[in-house]
Amino acid sequence: MLEPDLLAYKALRDAMLSGHPEAFTSDAETERLRDLASYRSRLAGGNTLFTLVALDGSRVVGALTCEREPRHKVQHIAHLVGMMVADTHRGRGIGRALLAAGLDRVKATPGLAQLTLSVTAGNRAAIGLYCGAGFERYGHLPDAIRLPDGRRLGKDLMLLRLQG
Ligand SMILES: CC(C)(COP(=O)(O)OP(=O)(O)OC[C@H]1O[C@@H](n2cnc3c(N)ncnc32)[C@H](O)[C@@H]1OP(=O)(O)O)[C@@H](O)C(=O)NCCC(=O)NCCS
Repeated sequence: MLEPDLLAYKALRDAMLSGHPEAFTSDAETERLRDLASYRSRLAGGNTLFTLVALDGSRVVGALTCEREPRHKVQHIAHLVGMMVADTHRGRGIGRALLAAGLDRVKATPGLAQLTLSVTAGNRAAIGLYCGAGFERYGHLPDAIRLPDGRRLGKDLMLLRLQG
């Protein structure tokens, strides 16, 4: 993702956080108030290895971010966060294409040995996507997120081992 895409990225993220509160840890109300400058942390640099976006014209319709652990002892571990495809564009292979492109980048990054993510238990679309790419469940955190409507949802913890 490049700086000019930040506004469209925020628009997609705000819509997804609002429309799918059970799928994300961040809440829509807090994130909507964030200023655009704070989204620069999603550009490559610092702990962020990359954010990939899928574009339909100038509209961002899909995104995926990868963050690497900064501390020396855990620099072999990176995490996928913020996987999302706009409701209008789901089921067309965009999520799979984003994940495949992300995995290509991760595998080309020296020193990475493990890639993790967390996904709300029961999110069939996302879990199907990750399992199809070789991720395996290594744990489960019960009561991981609490929604305003009172639901308490667990998260499956998933792992992909790399060659590093
Ligand atoms: C999960 C998500 C990113 C998938 O994106 P997508 O572009 O619709 O997915 P694709 O069309 O590339 O499908 C890839 C695979 O995902 C799985 N999948 C996608 N939609 C599915 C559905 N409705 N039910 C079951 N599996 C599904 C399948 O394994 C599919 O592979 P297949 O087509 O060979 O069966 C998208 O549904 C989304 O943004 N959901 C809301 C936010 C979210 O849950 N994000 C994940 C946070 S961890």
